[in-house]
Amino acid sequence: MSIENAGIFPKIIAHAKEYGFVFPSSEIYDGLQAVYDYGQNGVELKNNLKLLWWKTMTQIHENIVGIDAAIFMHPNTWVASGHVASFNDPMIDNKDSKKRYRVDHLIESYAEQLESEGKSDKAKAVLEKMNHLLVLEDFEGLYQLIVNEGIKCPLSGTANWTEVRQFNLMFATQVGSVAEEANTIYLRPETAQGIFVNFLNVQKTGRMKIPFGIAQIGKAFRNEIVARQFIFRMREFEQMEMQFFVRPGTEMEWYHYWKETRMKWHRALGIPEHKLRYHDHEKLAHYANAALDIEFEFPFGFREIEGIHSRTDFDLRNHQELSKKKMQYFDNEINQSYIPYVVETSVGADRIFLMHLCHAYTEELTGEGENQKERVYLKLHPAIAPVKAAIFPLTKKDGLPEKAEKVYKDLKTEFRVVYEEKDSIGKRYTRQDLIGTPFCITIDHQTLEDDTVTIRDRDTALQRRLPIHALKEEIGQAVAFARVFEKL
Ligand code: GAP
Repeated sequence: MSIENAGIFPKIIAHAKEYGFVFPSSEIYDGLQAVYDYGQNGVELKNNLKLLWWKTMTQIHENIVGIDAAIFMHPNTWVASGHVASFNDPMIDNKDSKKRYRVDHLIESYAEQLESEGKSDKAKAVLEKMNHLLVLEDFEGLYQLIVNEGIKCPLSGTANWTEVRQFNLMFATQVGSVAEEANTIYLRPETAQGIFVNFLNVQKTGRMKIPFGIAQIGKAFRNEIVARQFIFRMREFEQMEMQFFVRPGTEMEWYHYWKETRMKWHRALGIPEHKLRYHDHEKLAHYANAALDIEFEFPFGFREIEGIHSRTDFDLRNHQELSKKKMQYFDNEINQSYIPYVVETSVGADRIFLMHLCHAYTEELTGEGENQKERVYLKLHPAIAPVKAAIFPLTKKDGLPEKAEKVYKDLKTEFRVVYEEKDSIGKRYTRQDLIGTPFCITIDHQTLEDDTVTIRDRDTALQRRLPIHALKEEIGQAVAFARVFEKL
């Protein structure tokens, strides 16, 4: 991570707030840690990402259907899934600052610091040791690693640590009005379980044949002890998960298929190859027999955006045992009943929102000498941009606003477009650049004569003349989801 890169992150956070993408939650009360709200532009960007994912899964893959399960689930769900027993993270507290850290985050930050000092071999050795200790769940060993390396609390600057302890990340609440009768239930920490418990409902009512998938988008909640990096790690976030049910023994084939397919999806949305990579898990989650992350290079380093997990029959088998309801599928191709194996793809809507925001944020110098100026714009893929085009009359007179409004009315039935007549044309261009609008269309005096307009491209700032009747086709081509699907 270069210093220059790290320095850009606070600017991106400020930009997200200033231009209506992301606000701190309940900001008038000074916010709530690790909880955020999406503003008028943010919600459009996020919805576009979600819709694109949804259509990729349920429209492009003929053997995947979607569901929308409730956030609250029977408490036994989380016993069967293993979350009650083992959805824990090892934590350590600094006794002076009273700050609590996730042990892996603390050590990873230390390794990043070593890396930036040119001590790559040492950084690698520390991370290898940490991974080894995490796999063994050797908390004493992790504590010793922190102490031996002299890792200090970034706040107090001291190495006065407590022992390493486990904390469960699920939020609990009560259902029922009378305290004695109330049952503890959890806010779901992953959406996946809503799919597992509905596996047979969907399979039977949809007459699905293995291999098939069930997709879902929804909120998940984790009591992340250490809130870090803006919307990267939140307590309330949105997951887009797809469980793919396969015949046992074929899971590795499907694991590789989904690993590649999901990487292609991120690239198809304009994220360059060198900014994405795979990271194989050494410490496997309690349910997986193979797992990897797709990582993106954020300004603060490569981090996970999506997980691909081969979950075996862990979840369905445990639900079968606890619920005493059969979770089996009869495969008439081989004349056998079995509990299917599952390969899951799990991506955070907020994570890829942040990825696109970071990738799109562009600062550029334009002009020469004294006229040189900095231009900031969001180079978002047109398919996910909050506004597809802005329509401007060059001036507020000579019938230009009336003509521009006509163009606006005609386009708004197809695309999310805005009409603006306030301020100079330059200021209006800038406002749209800042939110990533790919096209600005200007109605000028020539329009009144020949029904042509200028259309300005956000990234090159170049203008062309086009007949009004060609606008729908021009914008439609650029923003169509089909352009993304073609690359998959
Ligand atoms: N069902 C599997 C599962 O939940 P995970 O790796 O814990 O796997 C999957 O989470 C994805 O959910 C992550 O890759 C990330 O994009 C997103 N995610 C997880 N925790 C998050 C958090 N606290 N804030 C935002 N996104 C999160």
